[in-house]
Amino acid sequence: MPEIGRILFLPGDGIGPEVMEEVRRVIGWLGRRRLEFAVEEDLVGGAAQDAHGVPLTDATMARALEIGTVMFGAVGGPRYDDLPFAQKPERGLLRLRKDMDLFANLRPAIVFPALADASSLKRELVEGLDILILRELTGGVYFGEPRGIEDLPEGGQRAVDTQVYTTAEIERVARVGFELAGKRRGKVTSVEKANVMHTGVLWRRTVQALHDREYGDVELDHLYADNCAMQLVRQPKQFDVIVTDNLFGDLLSDCAAMLTGSLGMLPSASLGAPDAAGRRKAMYEPVHGSAPDIAGQGIANPIACLMSFAMLLRYSFDQAAEADRLERAIASVLEQGHRTADVMQDGMTRVSTSGMGDAILKELDRSIG
Ligand code: IPM
Ligand code: MN
Repeated sequence: MPEIGRILFLPGDGIGPEVMEEVRRVIGWLGRRRLEFAVEEDLVGGAAQDAHGVPLTDATMARALEIGTVMFGAVGGPRYDDLPFAQKPERGLLRLRKDMDLFANLRPAIVFPALADASSLKRELVEGLDILILRELTGGVYFGEPRGIEDLPEGGQRAVDTQVYTTAEIERVARVGFELAGKRRGKVTSVEKANVMHTGVLWRRTVQALHDREYGDVELDHLYADNCAMQLVRQPKQFDVIVTDNLFGDLLSDCAAMLTGSLGMLPSASLGAPDAAGRRKAMYEPVHGSAPDIAGQGIANPIACLMSFAMLLRYSFDQAAEADRLERAIASVLEQGHRTADVMQDGMTRVSTSGMGDAILKELDRSIG
């Protein structure tokens, strides 16, 4: 069987390289089963800043565009906090999203049965939770112009960020939401602030019109973003797919992440539009950041990164069966009581980053008998 694809690894900073190492081991395991990936690696974030003075070089950007599939670790750290805006590690991430046109950011919030007690909410509220936040990722206030800080003649300064959306931008992300909901529980909640913002009015109108035109079989609700935040902690299981803009999606996905008990468990996929051959550019990254406080200790939870790799198998390479296998292996290892420090509970077995990787690989072995 020939190699099925190329992946660009951008491990980045902090615990990024540590958790990505466990993905490498799973790729090695798949390779031994003749599912071969060609992995290349490059620098991003603080690591690129240290080596090249920018958080992402043009050459790395070109490579990401050419290869088309990126596994991303994490970026940032206290050493870089005082850098000017354009040199901050986060700019590397934002440029990858923008230049690859990865407009659809899938952030599932899933509660593993073994971890239902790790949530800050009562077990009955989160047990079995499986929701998907779909965040628009290349528009809105993150990229809108004008933006900046200017000096005022009378003293003081004036800062501007621009929230802007076009019908086409809203429609393409809403379409992904309806398609995904159609394969799940058939419900989309569209979230904005149409009571205060013009972008919210256009957002609501556009999502509703697309629904009425093409997705009548999917249930559609609209919520204001503040109400959505409240509903997420009040009754999270009412949701299936939440479709929202870049900034609200940033906030609501952190909120949803916490429902599951640990940021260390949550994957994400950022997808572009399919080309003529049906291939889409994509980047996969754990939702957690670089966690500089625990970096280098070998205790980070690799599950979010491994779950992100499962999404890569599913969305970039059509390997749903292998993605399922990996997700099942992770769930079993949690059932058996293996826990990294972030999700440690009484009576469980504490493992290191590579210890978690060992247990998952063993479970993968078992799955092929
Ligand atoms: C995220 C992060 C990023 C964002 C930062 C690191 C730029 O918080 O992916 O949610 O705000 O989008
Ligand atoms: Mn965020």
